[in-house]
Amino acid sequence: MTRAAETITVTLEVWRQKGPGDRGRFETIRAKDISTDMSFLEMLDVVNERLALEGKEPIEFDSDCREGICGTCGAVVSGIPHGPEKAMTLCQLHMRKFSDGDTIAVEPWRARAFKVVKDLIVDRGALDSIIQAGGYVSSNTGSAPEAGSVPVPQDMAEKAMDAAACIGCGACVAACPNASAMLFVGAKVSHLALLPQGRPEAAARALAMARSMESLGFGNCSNERECEAVCPKEISISNIARLNREFFKAAFLSDGY
Ligand code: SF4
Ligand code: FES
Repeated sequence: MTRAAETITVTLEVWRQKGPGDRGRFETIRAKDISTDMSFLEMLDVVNERLALEGKEPIEFDSDCREGICGTCGAVVSGIPHGPEKAMTLCQLHMRKFSDGDTIAVEPWRARAFKVVKDLIVDRGALDSIIQAGGYVSSNTGSAPEAGSVPVPQDMAEKAMDAAACIGCGACVAACPNASAMLFVGAKVSHLALLPQGRPEAAARALAMARSMESLGFGNCSNERECEAVCPKEISISNIARLNREFFKAAFLSDGY
């Protein structure tokens, strides 16, 4: 027997901002008869269809895979980046998490380095710039190496894979009171530094990425751990400690920071 979907009505307090130069404001929108089987983004799709039918501007928001893979979606839902469900992106959050009559505040990521483009969309190009500053990984060209010719201990491989799970969504920045990107940078530095293939440039990479992060307007880490709490991929702050170790090693070996 199939379960009949329940419907709820919620009140959205949505951030509306025409562009980077606009001051922006919250707008109250009633989302009536929303199936609890819908994802949060599907609920926004329904609201947008209704707004369009009324001749009003739909709410702009980012999404792509809608499967928690790409890192494109994201909004602060009632004060929590990606919403109230732990280890989950906004696209995977379902309306069954909410109750009939709830009021839900929906805002874009707030950080100096993330300019609001429109409504819930922010420019996260600064994260791409940090990656770019990290540079290349040394690898010899030629035919494929023999399998197993570069031994990688199992625990290192698993830690590297855990760090590589970062999808670059920026929720860690939005959650941090300093708008720091240390968790993101820690994950990116770690997933290469933990593997032999990424070791040759590990220290220089950490220095370049940390300098880039600072120049782009991100703050520093003060161990609040808000980043770790909201990360949809459960990236551990131990990656920040590894970033710091690589950074100080590089700063010590070079002529200072
Ligand atoms: S560390 Fe987590 S919250 Fe930060 S960008 Fe990566 S996946 Fe998103
Ligand atoms: S849309 Fe790809 S992670 Fe949410």
